[in-house]
Amino acid sequence: MLVLGIETTCDETAAAVVERSSVGSGRILSNIVRSQTEEHAAFGGVVPEIAARAHVDLLDGIVERAMKEAGVSFAQLSAVAAAAGPGLIGGVIVGLTTAKAIAMVHNAPLIAVNHLEAHALTPRLTCALGFPYCLFLASGGHTQIVAVVGVGKYVRLGTTVDDAMGEAFDKVAKMLGLPYPGGPEVERAASDGDPKRFAFPRPMLGRSDAHFSLSGLKTAVRNEASRLDPIEPQDIRDLCAGFQAAVLESTADRLSVGLRLFQQQFGPPRALVAAGGVAANQAIRGALQAVAAQAQTTLIIPPPALCTDNGAMIAWAGAERLALGLVDGMDAAPRARWLLDADATAPVGYANTRAAF
Ligand code: KG4
Ligand code: ZN
Repeated sequence: MLVLGIETTCDETAAAVVERSSVGSGRILSNIVRSQTEEHAAFGGVVPEIAARAHVDLLDGIVERAMKEAGVSFAQLSAVAAAAGPGLIGGVIVGLTTAKAIAMVHNAPLIAVNHLEAHALTPRLTCALGFPYCLFLASGGHTQIVAVVGVGKYVRLGTTVDDAMGEAFDKVAKMLGLPYPGGPEVERAASDGDPKRFAFPRPMLGRSDAHFSLSGLKTAVRNEASRLDPIEPQDIRDLCAGFQAAVLESTADRLSVGLRLFQQQFGPPRALVAAGGVAANQAIRGALQAVAAQAQTTLIIPPPALCTDNGAMIAWAGAERLALGLVDGMDAAPRARWLLDADATAPVGYANTRAAF
Protein backbone atom coordinates (compact mmCIF):
# COMPACT_ATOMS: atom_id res chain seq x y z
CA MET A 1 0.00 0.00 0.00
CA LEU A 2 1.34 3.44 -0.93
CA VAL A 3 -0.31 6.43 0.73
CA LEU A 4 0.29 10.15 0.28
CA GLY A 5 -0.33 12.11 3.49
CA ILE A 6 -0.95 15.85 3.78
CA GLU A 7 -0.70 17.90 7.00
CA THR A 8 -1.80 21.55 7.23
CA THR A 9 -3.65 21.87 10.56
CA CYS A 10 -1.28 24.39 12.15
CA ASP A 11 1.94 26.05 11.00
CA GLU A 12 3.67 23.15 9.26
CA THR A 13 3.00 22.53 5.58
CA ALA A 14 3.86 18.86 5.14
CA ALA A 15 3.49 15.95 2.76
CA ALA A 16 4.87 12.42 2.80
CA VAL A 17 4.61 9.07 1.08
CA VAL A 18 4.48 5.99 3.30
CA GLU A 19 4.40 2.32 2.39
CA ARG A 20 2.52 -0.26 4.46
CA SER A 21 3.25 -3.93 3.89
CA SER A 22 0.61 -6.66 3.97
CA VAL A 23 1.86 -7.69 7.44
CA GLY A 24 1.41 -4.16 8.74
CA SER A 25 4.98 -2.84 8.82
CA GLY A 26 5.64 0.68 7.60
CA ARG A 27 8.34 2.48 5.64
CA ILE A 28 8.68 6.20 5.03
CA LEU A 29 9.57 6.89 1.39
CA SER A 30 9.58 10.67 1.77
CA ASN A 31 8.66 13.16 4.50
CA ILE A 32 8.82 16.84 3.58
CA VAL A 33 8.04 19.42 6.28
CA ARG A 34 8.12 23.16 5.71
CA SER A 35 7.74 24.97 9.03
CA GLN A 36 6.26 28.47 8.88
CA THR A 37 8.12 29.63 12.02
CA GLU A 38 9.60 32.59 10.14
CA GLU A 39 6.23 33.79 8.85
CA HIS A 40 4.83 33.90 12.40
CA ALA A 41 7.88 34.82 14.50
CA ALA A 42 7.24 38.56 14.41
CA PHE A 43 3.80 37.99 15.96
CA GLY A 44 4.99 35.73 18.82
CA GLY A 45 2.59 32.97 17.81
CA VAL A 46 0.72 31.39 14.90
CA VAL A 47 -1.57 33.81 13.02
CA PRO A 48 -4.34 31.64 11.48
CA GLU A 49 -4.87 33.77 8.37
CA ILE A 50 -1.15 33.97 7.59
CA ALA A 51 -0.89 30.19 8.10
CA ALA A 52 -3.77 29.48 5.70
CA ARG A 53 -2.29 31.71 2.98
CA ALA A 54 1.15 30.16 3.42
CA HIS A 55 -0.35 26.66 3.07
CA VAL A 56 -1.96 27.76 -0.22
CA ASP A 57 1.39 29.05 -1.49
CA LEU A 58 3.50 26.11 -0.33
CA LEU A 59 1.45 22.94 -0.46
CA ASP A 60 1.58 22.10 -4.19
CA GLY A 61 5.37 22.34 -4.21
CA ILE A 62 5.68 20.27 -1.02
CA VAL A 63 3.45 17.51 -2.45
CA GLU A 64 5.47 17.51 -5.66
CA ARG A 65 8.72 17.15 -3.71
CA ALA A 66 7.29 14.33 -1.56
CA MET A 67 6.19 12.38 -4.64
CA LYS A 68 9.49 12.96 -6.42
CA GLU A 69 11.63 11.97 -3.46
CA ALA A 70 9.56 8.81 -2.97
CA GLY A 71 9.92 7.95 -6.64
CA VAL A 72 6.20 7.27 -6.84
CA SER A 73 3.69 8.38 -9.46
CA PHE A 74 0.17 9.54 -8.56
CA ALA A 75 -1.23 6.55 -10.43
CA GLN A 76 0.59 4.20 -8.03
CA LEU A 77 -1.05 5.65 -4.90
CA SER A 78 -3.40 3.35 -2.99
CA ALA A 79 -5.00 6.35 -1.28
CA VAL A 80 -4.62 10.04 -0.50
CA ALA A 81 -4.89 11.02 3.16
CA ALA A 82 -5.18 14.49 4.66
CA ALA A 83 -5.55 15.76 8.20
CA ALA A 84 -9.19 16.92 8.23
CA GLY A 85 -8.91 18.38 11.75
CA PRO A 86 -8.77 19.33 14.53
CA GLY A 87 -6.87 22.51 13.79
CA LEU A 88 -6.96 25.99 12.30
CA ILE A 89 -9.83 25.74 9.88
CA GLY A 90 -8.27 27.73 7.01
CA GLY A 91 -5.26 25.44 6.86
CA VAL A 92 -7.39 22.30 7.23
CA ILE A 93 -9.51 23.39 4.24
CA VAL A 94 -6.38 23.89 2.11
CA GLY A 95 -4.98 20.42 2.89
CA LEU A 96 -8.24 18.52 2.63
CA THR A 97 -9.28 20.22 -0.61
CA THR A 98 -5.89 19.50 -2.16
CA ALA A 99 -6.18 15.84 -1.14
CA LYS A 100 -9.69 15.63 -2.61
CA ALA A 101 -8.49 17.09 -5.91
CA ILE A 102 -5.59 14.63 -6.17
CA ALA A 103 -7.81 11.69 -5.17
CA MET A 104 -10.49 12.67 -7.68
CA VAL A 105 -8.12 13.19 -10.60
CA HIS A 106 -6.25 9.94 -9.99
CA ASN A 107 -9.28 7.92 -8.95
CA ALA A 108 -7.80 7.02 -5.57
CA PRO A 109 -9.70 6.67 -2.28
CA LEU A 110 -9.67 9.69 0.07
CA ILE A 111 -8.99 9.27 3.77
CA ALA A 112 -9.89 12.13 6.13
CA VAL A 113 -7.56 11.61 9.08
CA ASN A 114 -7.96 12.95 12.58
CA HIS A 115 -4.66 14.73 13.34
CA LEU A 116 -4.67 13.38 16.92
CA GLU A 117 -5.23 9.83 15.66
CA ALA A 118 -2.15 10.28 13.46
CA HIS A 119 -0.03 11.24 16.50
CA ALA A 120 -1.54 8.27 18.36
CA LEU A 121 -0.67 5.69 15.66
CA THR A 122 2.88 6.93 14.88
CA PRO A 123 4.67 4.38 17.14
CA ARG A 124 3.12 1.59 15.04
CA LEU A 125 4.96 3.04 12.05
CA THR A 126 8.30 3.42 13.83
CA CYS A 127 8.38 0.25 15.93
CA ALA A 128 5.41 -1.99 15.09
CA LEU A 129 3.85 -1.54 18.53
CA GLY A 130 0.78 -3.69 19.32
CA PHE A 131 -2.40 -2.49 21.09
CA PRO A 132 -3.23 -1.39 23.72
CA TYR A 133 -0.84 1.36 24.73
CA CYS A 134 -0.97 4.64 26.60
CA LEU A 135 -0.32 7.88 24.73
CA PHE A 136 0.82 11.15 26.28
CA LEU A 137 0.27 13.84 23.69
CA ALA A 138 1.64 17.28 24.55
CA SER A 139 1.85 19.93 21.85
CA GLY A 140 1.01 23.59 21.33
CA GLY A 141 -2.68 22.75 21.03
CA HIS A 142 -3.22 19.55 23.01
CA THR A 143 -2.35 17.91 26.29
CA GLN A 144 -3.98 14.53 26.67
CA ILE A 145 -3.51 11.05 28.08
CA VAL A 146 -5.21 8.58 25.75
CA ALA A 147 -5.69 4.81 25.84
CA VAL A 148 -5.01 3.62 22.29
CA VAL A 149 -7.07 0.44 22.14
CA GLY A 150 -7.18 -0.08 18.36
CA VAL A 151 -7.39 1.87 15.10
CA GLY A 152 -10.35 4.22 15.66
CA LYS A 153 -10.69 3.10 19.30
CA TYR A 154 -9.42 5.73 21.70
CA VAL A 155 -10.36 6.48 25.29
CA ARG A 156 -9.33 9.82 26.73
CA LEU A 157 -8.10 9.32 30.28
CA GLY A 158 -6.96 12.87 30.98
CA THR A 159 -6.81 16.31 29.38
CA THR A 160 -5.90 19.88 30.23
CA VAL A 161 -8.64 21.98 31.75
CA ASP A 162 -7.05 25.21 30.48
CA ASP A 163 -3.79 25.81 28.54
CA ALA A 164 -2.00 23.15 26.50
CA MET A 165 1.50 22.35 27.77
CA GLY A 166 3.33 23.70 24.71
CA GLU A 167 1.15 26.80 24.85
CA ALA A 168 2.24 27.35 28.49
CA PHE A 169 5.91 27.05 27.47
CA ASP A 170 5.29 29.53 24.63
CA LYS A 171 3.49 32.01 26.90
CA VAL A 172 6.17 31.85 29.58
CA ALA A 173 8.82 32.45 26.92
CA LYS A 174 6.89 35.42 25.56
CA MET A 175 6.45 37.06 28.97
CA LEU A 176 10.20 36.70 29.62
CA GLY A 177 11.12 38.18 26.24
CA LEU A 178 12.36 34.90 24.73
CA PRO A 179 11.72 34.25 21.02
CA TYR A 180 8.97 32.10 19.51
CA PRO A 181 8.55 29.10 19.57
CA GLY A 182 9.21 29.26 23.27
CA GLY A 183 9.50 25.61 24.32
CA PRO A 184 13.11 25.02 23.24
CA GLU A 185 14.11 28.51 24.50
CA VAL A 186 12.66 27.84 27.95
CA GLU A 187 14.39 24.46 28.05
CA ARG A 188 17.73 26.03 27.11
CA ALA A 189 17.39 28.82 29.70
CA ALA A 190 16.26 26.34 32.36
CA SER A 191 19.40 24.24 31.94
CA ASP A 192 21.46 27.09 33.47
CA GLY A 193 18.90 28.07 36.08
CA ASP A 194 18.16 27.24 39.71
CA PRO A 195 14.87 25.30 39.84
CA LYS A 196 14.56 25.91 43.59
CA ARG A 197 14.84 29.70 43.68
CA PHE A 198 11.14 30.25 43.06
CA ALA A 199 8.52 28.11 44.79
CA PHE A 200 6.01 27.60 41.99
CA PRO A 201 2.82 25.56 42.49
CA ARG A 202 2.62 21.95 41.31
CA PRO A 203 -0.77 22.00 39.55
CA MET A 204 -3.21 19.13 40.23
CA LEU A 205 -0.69 17.18 42.35
CA GLY A 206 -2.33 14.29 44.17
CA ARG A 207 -5.73 14.51 42.46
CA SER A 208 -7.45 11.22 41.69
CA ASP A 209 -8.27 12.17 38.08
CA ALA A 210 -5.58 12.42 35.38
CA HIS A 211 -6.25 15.97 34.17
CA PHE A 212 -3.76 18.79 33.72
CA SER A 213 -3.88 22.50 34.47
CA LEU A 214 -1.21 24.96 33.39
CA SER A 215 -2.67 28.45 33.44
CA GLY A 216 -2.25 28.97 37.22
CA LEU A 217 1.42 28.03 36.99
CA LYS A 218 1.89 30.42 34.08
CA THR A 219 0.30 33.22 36.13
CA ALA A 220 2.60 32.40 39.07
CA VAL A 221 5.60 32.84 36.76
CA ARG A 222 4.20 36.16 35.53
CA ASN A 223 3.71 37.39 39.12
CA GLU A 224 7.27 36.54 40.14
CA ALA A 225 8.68 38.08 36.95
CA SER A 226 6.80 41.33 37.51
CA ARG A 227 8.38 41.65 40.98
CA LEU A 228 11.86 41.63 39.43
CA ASP A 229 12.70 45.02 38.05
CA PRO A 230 15.01 45.17 36.23
CA ILE A 231 14.89 41.50 35.32
CA GLU A 232 18.40 40.07 34.81
CA PRO A 233 19.40 37.17 32.52
CA GLN A 234 19.99 34.92 35.56
CA ASP A 235 16.46 35.73 36.83
CA ILE A 236 15.07 34.53 33.49
CA ARG A 237 17.05 31.30 33.72
CA ASP A 238 15.86 30.69 37.28
CA LEU A 239 12.23 31.44 36.37
CA CYS A 240 12.44 29.02 33.43
CA ALA A 241 14.06 26.33 35.61
CA GLY A 242 11.38 26.77 38.29
CA PHE A 243 8.58 26.64 35.74
CA GLN A 244 9.97 23.56 34.01
CA ALA A 245 10.51 21.77 37.33
CA ALA A 246 6.86 22.40 38.25
CA VAL A 247 5.68 21.12 34.84
CA LEU A 248 7.83 18.00 35.26
CA GLU A 249 6.55 17.16 38.70
CA SER A 250 2.95 17.77 37.75
CA THR A 251 3.31 15.75 34.53
CA ALA A 252 4.89 12.79 36.35
CA ASP A 253 2.04 12.79 38.88
CA ARG A 254 -0.71 13.12 36.24
CA LEU A 255 0.80 10.37 34.10
CA SER A 256 1.17 7.94 36.95
CA VAL A 257 -2.54 8.40 37.70
CA GLY A 258 -3.29 8.05 33.97
CA LEU A 259 -1.36 4.79 33.79
CA ARG A 260 -3.23 3.51 36.85
CA LEU A 261 -6.57 4.33 35.18
CA PHE A 262 -5.32 2.60 32.03
CA GLN A 263 -4.37 -0.54 33.95
CA GLN A 264 -7.80 -0.67 35.64
CA GLN A 265 -9.66 -0.48 32.33
CA PHE A 266 -7.42 -2.21 29.81
CA GLY A 267 -4.81 -4.19 31.76
CA PRO A 268 -1.08 -3.53 31.41
CA PRO A 269 -0.18 -1.14 28.56
CA ARG A 270 2.32 -2.40 26.00
CA ALA A 271 4.09 0.94 26.30
CA LEU A 272 3.88 4.55 27.34
CA VAL A 273 4.22 6.61 24.17
CA ALA A 274 4.99 10.33 24.15
CA ALA A 275 4.26 12.55 21.15
CA GLY A 276 3.87 16.22 20.29
CA GLY A 277 6.46 18.99 20.32
CA VAL A 278 6.84 18.99 24.11
CA ALA A 279 8.14 15.41 23.95
CA ALA A 280 11.30 16.93 22.42
CA ASN A 281 12.13 18.36 25.88
CA GLN A 282 14.99 16.33 27.38
CA ALA A 283 14.01 17.01 30.99
CA ILE A 284 10.45 15.88 30.31
CA ARG A 285 11.78 12.76 28.63
CA GLY A 286 13.70 11.97 31.80
CA ALA A 287 10.56 12.37 33.91
CA LEU A 288 8.58 10.13 31.56
CA GLN A 289 11.26 7.46 31.75
CA ALA A 290 10.91 7.37 35.53
CA VAL A 291 7.10 7.19 35.34
CA ALA A 292 7.23 4.34 32.80
CA ALA A 293 9.74 2.40 34.90
CA GLN A 294 7.58 2.79 37.99
CA ALA A 295 4.55 1.50 36.06
CA GLN A 296 6.70 -1.38 34.73
CA THR A 297 6.19 -0.43 31.13
CA THR A 298 8.43 0.75 28.30
CA LEU A 299 8.72 4.36 27.23
CA ILE A 300 8.59 4.94 23.48
CA ILE A 301 9.23 8.37 22.02
CA PRO A 302 9.24 8.50 18.21
CA PRO A 303 12.19 10.42 16.69
CA PRO A 304 11.74 14.21 17.05
CA ALA A 305 10.80 14.69 13.37
CA LEU A 306 7.89 12.28 13.86
CA CYS A 307 6.85 13.71 17.27
CA THR A 308 6.15 17.14 15.82
CA ASP A 309 3.63 17.66 13.02
CA ASN A 310 4.52 15.89 9.77
CA GLY A 311 2.97 14.25 6.73
CA ALA A 312 4.26 10.73 7.41
CA MET A 313 2.02 10.34 10.45
CA ILE A 314 -1.02 11.36 8.36
CA ALA A 315 -0.07 8.95 5.55
CA TRP A 316 0.48 6.16 8.08
CA ALA A 317 -2.87 6.74 9.82
CA GLY A 318 -4.43 6.74 6.35
CA ALA A 319 -2.76 3.41 5.57
CA GLU A 320 -3.93 1.90 8.86
CA ARG A 321 -7.51 2.99 8.09
CA LEU A 322 -7.31 1.85 4.47
CA ALA A 323 -6.18 -1.60 5.62
CA LEU A 324 -9.47 -1.83 7.53
CA GLY A 325 -11.50 -0.50 4.60
CA LEU A 326 -12.16 2.81 6.34
CA VAL A 327 -12.29 5.33 3.47
CA ASP A 328 -14.15 8.62 3.18
CA GLY A 329 -16.35 10.27 0.58
CA MET A 330 -15.74 13.54 -1.23
CA ASP A 331 -18.17 15.12 1.23
CA ALA A 332 -15.70 14.66 4.14
CA ALA A 333 -15.81 17.92 6.06
CA PRO A 334 -12.89 19.96 7.43
CA ARG A 335 -13.24 20.22 11.21
CA ALA A 336 -11.81 22.83 13.58
CA ARG A 337 -12.74 20.56 16.49
CA TRP A 338 -12.72 16.80 16.37
CA LEU A 339 -12.70 14.69 19.52
CA LEU A 340 -10.49 11.64 19.26
CA ASP A 341 -12.70 9.95 21.83
CA ALA A 342 -16.26 10.79 20.76
CA ASP A 343 -17.54 9.77 24.20
CA ALA A 344 -15.20 12.06 26.13
CA THR A 345 -17.04 14.59 28.26
CA ALA A 346 -15.76 17.80 29.85
CA PRO A 347 -13.68 17.08 32.96
CA VAL A 348 -15.94 16.96 36.01
CA GLY A 349 -15.48 19.49 38.80
CA TYR A 350 -13.66 22.21 36.86
CA ALA A 351 -15.24 25.56 36.07
CA ASN A 352 -14.85 27.07 32.59
CA THR A 353 -12.90 24.17 31.21
CA ARG A 354 -11.50 24.71 27.72
CA ALA A 355 -10.81 21.02 27.29
CA ALA A 356 -13.78 20.02 25.15
CA PHE A 357 -11.55 18.85 22.27
O1 KG4 B 1 3.55 19.19 18.00
P1 KG4 B 1 4.03 20.57 17.66
O2 KG4 B 1 5.22 20.72 16.77
O3 KG4 B 1 2.91 21.44 17.00
C1 KG4 B 1 1.61 21.52 17.51
O4 KG4 B 1 1.41 22.33 18.43
O5 KG4 B 1 0.75 20.76 17.00
O6 KG4 B 1 4.32 21.27 19.08
C2 KG4 B 1 4.77 22.58 19.16
C3 KG4 B 1 4.81 22.95 20.63
C4 KG4 B 1 5.13 24.41 20.86
O7 KG4 B 1 4.25 24.93 21.82
C5 KG4 B 1 6.57 24.36 21.36
O8 KG4 B 1 6.92 25.44 22.20
C6 KG4 B 1 6.58 23.05 22.11
O9 KG4 B 1 5.80 22.17 21.31
N1 KG4 B 1 7.96 22.56 22.24
C7 KG4 B 1 8.58 22.40 23.43
C8 KG4 B 1 9.90 22.00 23.12
N2 KG4 B 1 10.02 21.93 21.76
C9 KG4 B 1 8.81 22.27 21.25
N3 KG4 B 1 8.15 22.56 24.68
C10 KG4 B 1 9.03 22.31 25.67
N4 KG4 B 1 10.31 21.97 25.47
C11 KG4 B 1 10.79 21.79 24.23
N5 KG4 B 1 12.06 21.44 24.01
ZN1 ZN C 1 0.18 17.87 16.26
